[in-house]
Amino acid sequence: MSLQHFLADQLQDKQQLLALIEQAIDIKNNPGKYSQALAGKSVVMLFEKPSLRTHISFDIGIQKLGGHSLYIGQQNGQLGERERVKDVAKNLACWADAIVARVFKQQVLDEMAEYAGIPVINALSDLYHPCQALADYMALTENFGSVEGLNIAYIGDGNNVSNSLMLMGSILGANVTVITPQGYEPDSALVAEAQKLAEQSGATLTVSTDIDDAKNQQVIYTDTWISMGDGTKVDAILEKFMPYQINEQLMAKAGASAVMHCQPAHLEQEITTSVFDSEQSIAFQQAENRMWAQNSVLVSLFK
Ligand code: NVA
Repeated sequence: MSLQHFLADQLQDKQQLLALIEQAIDIKNNPGKYSQALAGKSVVMLFEKPSLRTHISFDIGIQKLGGHSLYIGQQNGQLGERERVKDVAKNLACWADAIVARVFKQQVLDEMAEYAGIPVINALSDLYHPCQALADYMALTENFGSVEGLNIAYIGDGNNVSNSLMLMGSILGANVTVITPQGYEPDSALVAEAQKLAEQSGATLTVSTDIDDAKNQQVIYTDTWISMGDGTKVDAILEKFMPYQINEQLMAKAGASAVMHCQPAHLEQEITTSVFDSEQSIAFQQAENRMWAQNSVLVSLFK
């Protein structure tokens, strides 16, 4: 299976996603087999926002595939300010073989993909975090055998991470429930898109503001209540969000055996320390899988 770009969850179909997950597991188990997959290739990583896991996992992952990576941080300001996005993309394509970008606006990624003529990978945007979702569904495949029919509840802020979890899960046939406080629901156009994808795969998608809907769930997932670039102070939203905190009572009520977090975790806010550190937490498996899932994408982009 080969890919052109990795920009948004809904651009992949079920067979492609399953093949990417299967390949990611194979790369994790047999890294030596792929040690020259990116030989002679250079990947530019453009980051408009901070990063720990994404930056390091791409950097080390590319090295493990025999490729070379180059990081450009925030020193150049927002993309499109100093020169047009399309010119940045065309310049990078003069030297590099692929672009990994973390951006404020998805539109910037789409524009880069349109003009670069080389593969572009979404390393997080305002709308999506597909590399995270791929690593997450890889972890769930490892733990549950398959994600088809799996009940997953995302609880917290409707954001890029929940959008990707909902879209990719709906394609793969997972029953996703997204529970947020009122006013923090996921983007309605993306919910409608996910709803259609769920119908096609025979899964269910539930979007709710009622925390009591967190029942009969095998997996609970949460993320920060305030995403990067959002200047809201936590004190201003605490009262609204506290009933949605992942704690031991909520885990017991949901009946879940696994809890997930893409990190960074804000302990005692969206998740308690005891749940984050518990045996049920697979947050570090998710973090490890970021590298293997991204390497699977890179291998497929260069096939
Ligand atoms: N929703 C978070 C994810 C961080 C990995 C953010 O955009 O900041």
